[in-house]
Amino acid sequence: MANPIRICIIGGGIIGASIGFYLSEAGCSNITIIERTNIACGASGRAGGFLAKNWRSGAEGKFSESSFLAHAELAQRLKDEFSTDVMYRRLTTFNITINENNDEVNTNKHTSDKQSLPNWITADVHEKEMLGDEDTTAQVHPGLLTNALVKIIESRGGRVIIGGANGFLFETITTHTEKDEHHQTSPVRAIKLLIEDQEPIEADIFILAMGPWTYQAAPWFRDAIVFKENISHQLDVIGGVKAHSIVLKNNQPTEPYAFFLAYQSHDGNVLDPEIYLRPNGDIYACGFSEEHTQNLPDSGNSVSINESNCERLRQIVVQVASTLKDSNVEIKQACYLPQSSDGSPLIGRLHGLNNVYIAAGHSCWGILNSLATGAQLTQLILKGEMSPFLKQCDPTRFYRRGGHR
Ligand SMILES: Cc1cc2nc3c(=O)[nH]c(=O)nc-3n(C[C@H](O)[C@H](O)[C@H](O)COP(=O)(O)OP(=O)(O)OC[C@H]3O[C@@H](n4cnc5c(N)ncnc54)[C@H](O)[C@@H]3O)c2cc1C
Ligand SMILES: *[C@@H]1O[C@H](CO)[C@@H](O)[C@H](O)[C@H]1NC(C)=O
Ligand SMILES: *[C@@H]1O[C@H](CO)[C@@H](O)[C@H](O)[C@H]1NC(C)=O
Ligand SMILES: *[C@@H]1O[C@H](CO)[C@@H](O)[C@H](O)[C@H]1NC(C)=O
Repeated sequence: MANPIRICIIGGGIIGASIGFYLSEAGCSNITIIERTNIACGASGRAGGFLAKNWRSGAEGKFSESSFLAHAELAQRLKDEFSTDVMYRRLTTFNITINENNDEVNTNKHTSDKQSLPNWITADVHEKEMLGDEDTTAQVHPGLLTNALVKIIESRGGRVIIGGANGFLFETITTHTEKDEHHQTSPVRAIKLLIEDQEPIEADIFILAMGPWTYQAAPWFRDAIVFKENISHQLDVIGGVKAHSIVLKNNQPTEPYAFFLAYQSHDGNVLDPEIYLRPNGDIYACGFSEEHTQNLPDSGNSVSINESNCERLRQIVVQVASTLKDSNVEIKQACYLPQSSDGSPLIGRLHGLNNVYIAAGHSCWGILNSLATGAQLTQLILKGEMSPFLKQCDPTRFYRRGGHR
């Protein structure tokens, strides 16, 4: 059932890729992804890829659970149908509380509580809690997954254009509604997406999936005043939270474990880094979240890296498992988590426009929730159906408030 509708997705992170994938599953082949830098250059290529089935409650809980199950199914399909391995596997997940040690390598005689932890954990673990087992927690390599989804979209007739989107052309129609007492001209339908130094793209449906950069699209709607209200407010609520991560290369250990740490450092601060082991011998660690900001570099590849944060992450990893002492730090990186002002993502049609959608602001669960976002936004676009969680994520919640500022 080919669907000739022309789709234009702005942003080649996991959210844009997942939406494109589900639209292509539903028969849409005319899909264009506009990506400013390269696919998965932001958090989608630099995240941990941790997935939890039941860590959220209510409508979001159902949504996350469906996404968790979709990851398992999709990883299997990618293997079987596309010979693609995205390093998906189930995990055992612990929360461990440890004190900073004076020596980098802990010989560790007085460890109180290591039962059931793997034997290569050498840190002095004060407290531990199992947060999940192989029924409830898993991991995927987010960069591999994002790229795999984009490849499938391309194999079905879609395309990727590298370029920075920077505005829209709107169809202007004059409305004569009750609210619009001044008979003002209201742009309601986007016709073309403008791209820096390139021809504009025409499409029937536009989807903004620009992650933490979504605030940069607010000015594109400055002239799109509908009923005297300001569409931009729905975009201006998103920004980024910077975090650092490193990847160590070692052959061992590779067992399926994830660790959330409560790390009591000498200076009295408690750090909360996370450590994930990947099946290929990569050890991924992230931490050092900063303040919410709307001052991001344009490229996900030019986020400044604080060497001392990376070195600190390395020390913590080595304290957790001293066998990692001599491993290579292969990657030092930083990226921005997309965050909305109320903490929930914005998924749905932008109020005041009839063919522009948004899916952004997924915070620390964007990898987990990517697949349900793609599946459910596809349902909304093609069938007008909205799940209870999508109702919570409706961007309109910011339109009403912002409109009367
Ligand atoms: C350190 C860290 C660890 C994380 N770990 C996990 C985890 O374990 N599990 C989990 O579920 N989530 C995790 N997350 C969260 C997850 O990474 C994000 O929620 C998710 O990647 C967001 O995806 P996105 O596609 O919305 O944004 P992004 O990945 O930022 O993608 C947006 C894309 O849009 C492009 N773009 C921006 N502006 C334009 C423009 N004008 N024109 C064209 N293209 C544009 C960008 O270049 C970018 O490629 C983590 C995040 C961080 C920072
Ligand atoms: C881990 O345990 C610490 C100490 O009990 C707690 O403060 C922290 O919130 C826990 N983290 C997670 C992710 O459960
Ligand atoms: C719309 O809101 C944005 C911020 O969200 C603001 O910068 C802009 O000036 C507003 N435009 C009008 C016409 O009110
Ligand atoms: C790096 O981060 C540390 C805190 O983690 C901070 O004290 C230091 O000033 C930062 N360095 C730079 C160059 O920003």
